[in-house]
Amino acid sequence: MLKGQIISGDFGNIIVRQKAGREIELGELLVSEDGRMLFEVVDLRFGSQISEQNRELISGMDLEENADTELFEKELRNYTIAVLKPVIRIGEKASLVKTLPVFLSKVREVKEEDLKFLTKPKNPLFLGKLRSGSKVMNVDIFLDAAKALSHHILIPATTGRGKSNLTMVMLWGQLDKDYCGVLVLDPHDEYFGRHKLGLKDHPKSENLVYYTMRSPPPGQRTLKINVEQIKPNHFNGVVEWSQAQHEALAAYHKKYKEKWVEAIIKERPVDNFNEATLSVIKRRMLSLLDLELDSSGVYCKGIFDFSAGETTIRDIVNELIKGKTVVIDTSYLSGAVEILVGSLITTEVFSKYKHFKATGELKDKPVISIVLEEAPRVLGKEVLEKGSNIFSTIAREGRKFKVGLTAITQLPSLIPRQILANMNTKIILGLEMAPERNAIIESASQDLTEASKSIASLDIGEAIISSNFVKFATPIKIPLFEEMAKSAKDKKLEENSFEGVKLGG
Ligand SMILES: Nc1ncnc2c1ncn2[C@@H]1O[C@H](COP(=O)(O)OP(=O)(O)OP(=O)(O)O)[C@@H](O)[C@H]1O
Ligand SMILES: [Mg+2]
Repeated sequence: MLKGQIISGDFGNIIVRQKAGREIELGELLVSEDGRMLFEVVDLRFGSQISEQNRELISGMDLEENADTELFEKELRNYTIAVLKPVIRIGEKASLVKTLPVFLSKVREVKEEDLKFLTKPKNPLFLGKLRSGSKVMNVDIFLDAAKALSHHILIPATTGRGKSNLTMVMLWGQLDKDYCGVLVLDPHDEYFGRHKLGLKDHPKSENLVYYTMRSPPPGQRTLKINVEQIKPNHFNGVVEWSQAQHEALAAYHKKYKEKWVEAIIKERPVDNFNEATLSVIKRRMLSLLDLELDSSGVYCKGIFDFSAGETTIRDIVNELIKGKTVVIDTSYLSGAVEILVGSLITTEVFSKYKHFKATGELKDKPVISIVLEEAPRVLGKEVLEKGSNIFSTIAREGRKFKVGLTAITQLPSLIPRQILANMNTKIILGLEMAPERNAIIESASQDLTEASKSIASLDIGEAIISSNFVKFATPIKIPLFEEMAKSAKDKKLEENSFEGVKLGG
């Protein structure tokens, strides 16, 4: 359908007069009449042939005198102006735009045939359907999972815009794939689907492992971690220690090896530290690890244990290396403990993968992604000012070792710009606050300066993918997880009953 005609402008601002009655939307994709150029609508305004003064007069007559001010040739004289940005040259292959479209040529609505250049990558990670403005097209959008996951994904959005739903769609899509393993730290216990539809309902749910500290469903595991697994550096980015406390931890670890935490709690001797320092680290250790001390000994009240849980971290890491998805229900843990658990597992994953790289085994291993909600807790400027931690290390160099982060946040501006720039894929949902949008736009893979308005006006489930691994900043609509999962379940039931009929017949 014809939408309008190019009447003026320059390279980044092509001015189109909209054809009367053919609505053009912000964020809509349009195509030149020769089908060679794709544009995005970045702004809309009124245009008129009638002078401002005359318009004011006509309006006055209408409002004040109730005069019949029906204009002669209304459609010719008043219209909508759309500002377009060239997105990409299309055809059999897509390439960058370096020329202007033909002057005074027409633009039309985008059609599925225009988008043949959007091919399915080798390891597809489904994100949603292509969107033109608010219209959803029947064109699936994928990222290459191995590349995108190892080069980090950032999911920024204002609360309630669909971050968790998107994460769920991504997790669902890769659950049955053996080229990636995913660790999910789940502070809201929303991904397994204890009481609702969730990953447990996937046709290949055997690839899912769920750890929780409250009554695990049949076949799932209790989260227990042995205290001896903890090392002083696991606390980096988790709790802040003073210089003296830090040194005391190191001294204990050096002297008592894996029994160091026990030694702190039982006040075993270590040289050259004053009473006060030792009593502070003891107190903090007890509260952080949820331990209690009385006359008869130490009690474990939380997930950390002196006898159980010796293999938990190793088991989790091995499951990830098999390409499984491991969901850890951290909803009952304090923020610090959640991060400590994440830090323990992630440190182990990273050191394993560094080893694989050294031995040449890395190419046969799946990429591993670590899903972090409220990412500024570990990647925030404030945290990193005090020193790096395993998550910032992965953000900086994880891609070399096939370990990446999937960081979710409402406040990307809290994350240092360098780390934002390292996150090579950003799936941007609605962001209302201008400073948050700017943080993303400044660090995006494509030029999104013109897209600020569209990002602000993204509806729930609408997103823009900006990535080194897509050809242009791609607008998408993410499906609602419940609907997607239900239809997959129904399809499986149908297939099973069909096979039943075949077998029976
Ligand atoms: N793609 C979508 N299509 C339709 N509805 C959606 C979509 N994504 C999310 N929703 C609706 O919006 C609600 C909030 O989504 P979600 O929980 O994913 O937001 P969120 O960004 O994770 O919020 P929070 O910041 O609170 O964690 C969902 O319960 C769902 O009803
Ligand atoms: Mg959420």
